[in-house]
Amino acid sequence: MNSRLFSTFVAAVAVAALGSIAMAQGNPEAAALENPVAATPESIAAGQASYKQYCASCHGATAEGGVGNDLIPDSPNLIDAEWDHGSADGNIFDSIKNGVPPNFDMIPWSNRLSDDEVWNVVNYLRSLAE
Ligand code: HEC
Repeated sequence: MNSRLFSTFVAAVAVAALGSIAMAQGNPEAAALENPVAATPESIAAGQASYKQYCASCHGATAEGGVGNDLIPDSPNLIDAEWDHGSADGNIFDSIKNGVPPNFDMIPWSNRLSDDEVWNVVNYLRSLAE
């Protein structure tokens, strides 16, 4: 390998590594989103209702995660400190509203839940994590 080819290779590896760090931290624009919905008992109760209806089948009744199958990988725990796609309220909102690229095993819910309803779910998950 000549040296120019080698430095191109090193640069490509560095870009790939940075890319996966960015993925792990989630979308920085989403991370900066402020949660506009106060975590009132009403918000948390509404979030719980949506969670039971749309999310519990995969992420589990207690949001501690669920086992996958031939079609879909394990669904992650949503009440621990480990977040694959960012831990800010805005990242969690983004994962729920827009789904998780590139595979979208976690589909977008924007056609079923309004933005406020997604924030209610974020507030519910935060209340479970406390
Ligand atoms: C069909 C199963 C399924 C359903 C239903 C589902 N999810 Fe997911 N969810 C997944 C899978 C699988 C992942 C992991 C995706 C990945 O990392 O590529 C995921 C990832 C997530 C993440 C990102 C977690 C992290 O560590 O960053 C959040 C947040 C999330 N789901 C919340 C929800 C909520 C809230 C609902 C209901 C509105 C929901 N999910 C419905 C399967 C599901």
